[in-house]
Amino acid sequence: MNIILLGPPGAGKGTQAEKLVAERGMIQLSTGDMLRAAVKAGTPAGLQAKAIMDKGGLVSDAIVSALIGERLDETKSKEGRGGAIFDGYPRTQAQAEALDFILAERGRKLDHVIELVVDEEALVERVVGRFSCANCGAGYHDTFKMPKVADTCDVCGHHEFKRRPDDNEETVRTRMEEYHAKTAPILPYYEERGLVKRVDGMAEMAAVSKEIAAILDSETVAS
Ligand code: AP5
Ligand code: MG
Repeated sequence: MNIILLGPPGAGKGTQAEKLVAERGMIQLSTGDMLRAAVKAGTPAGLQAKAIMDKGGLVSDAIVSALIGERLDETKSKEGRGGAIFDGYPRTQAQAEALDFILAERGRKLDHVIELVVDEEALVERVVGRFSCANCGAGYHDTFKMPKVADTCDVCGHHEFKRRPDDNEETVRTRMEEYHAKTAPILPYYEERGLVKRVDGMAEMAAVSKEIAAILDSETVAS
């Protein structure tokens, strides 16, 4: 099973991917996470990406598609049970075409493109309030998902948390503009193949997960 989670910043792609990993043994392939790791490690791709990410622009198609291909090969042995979730990739028509090529080369295909449909004004609050465990990366939110015990990660018990440098209102608005200009226009490419399923991303997290589970448990559509 190979699925894409598509939606603007804060739509819940990472939140839902985390659940699918925990509950179905799927592998999450988030180009945002890969780029943040590259920035932290100071790799050439990371150095090139940092300034673009801090402003909310899109990193080059060649860099992100290369990251996806490499990661897909690295994680192949671990995803026997569940398959792959593409989170935040593809984001342009060129990336959508590259993904088809990357999958075909490996004898794989897409099963579903799940669009998280959201009210964008509410997303600013979601993104600006987001933080995560500095140790294991578990996601939290100032209003919607605080740790059960104050200052303690529910998953690993760590006490330090971090916030993303691009989670400020100005950058979020630029990220949304990029989504409308370059990412939303790839939906017809998948609609033509009958792959797009829409989910109400404004529902509670558990309800969103339930809708996604129903899609994954339904019969898959051939591409
Ligand atoms: P990336 O890391 O992919 O960021 P994004 O697309 O802007 O999306 P987010 O991670 O902000 O949101 P999300 O949908 O994962 O929401 P989440 O689940 O965390 O990309 C960052 C940057 O990297 C880009 O701007 C670009 O520069 C670069 N980049 C990455 N991929 C690229 C590519 N392919 N090509 C080029 N450049 C690329 O949820 C948000 C918050 O809301 C959380 O706190 C969560 O707890 C809460 N929440 C989630 N769901 C709900 C719900 N249903 N109800 C209430 N709260 C909720
Ligand atoms: Mg994310």
